[in-house]
Amino acid sequence: MTSWEKDKLALQSIRREVFINEQQVPEALEWDEFDNSSLHFICTLENKVIATARLKPDGKIGRMAVLQDYRNLGYGNKLLIFVIQTACDKNINNLYLHAQVSAIPFYEKQGFSVCSDIFYEANIPHREMSKIIC
Ligand SMILES: CC(C)(COP(=O)(O)OP(=O)(O)OC[C@H]1O[C@@H](n2cnc3c(N)ncnc32)[C@H](O)[C@@H]1OP(=O)(O)O)[C@@H](O)C(=O)NCCC(=O)NCCS
Repeated sequence: MTSWEKDKLALQSIRREVFINEQQVPEALEWDEFDNSSLHFICTLENKVIATARLKPDGKIGRMAVLQDYRNLGYGNKLLIFVIQTACDKNINNLYLHAQVSAIPFYEKQGFSVCSDIFYEANIPHREMSKIIC
């Protein structure tokens, strides 16, 4: 677990690679006012940052990203479990997220349920998902 202040460069680097370069999310949408107040998570492998996520104080999980070369190896799942456990430890009990439609099965594996119709963010179809914990 880390903060924007402490690990801004590493967090920016992985989010730039996955969201801005790979998924063509406009840079102006990627960085927002919630980075400063969120908890951030970094997963490293042999000193290389390979995955990240953030948790807002209101229970929203977001910016979940695993570098392309490291996908489908279980790292995203492990990171999501850690984020959920951290939320539980902090008594943040109502979790929600805006899932890219292609990632819905990934979140369903950890018990999140779809709770909205499709909407678009950065031109990518999303649905809101939620999970009550603890
Ligand atoms: C979505 C993402 C974070 C998943 O991370 P990952 O490390 O590849 O996922 P894991 O290897 O831990 O997968 C966990 C499970 O979810 C499944 N899964 C992962 N991505 C999936 C997808 N896009 N569609 C369907 N199932 C998926 C895996 O098959 C695996 O299931 P299994 O345990 O039965 O084999 C990763 O693909 C990613 O960073 N994508 C680009 C950025 C992105 O879209 N982020 C999500 C924004 S909402």
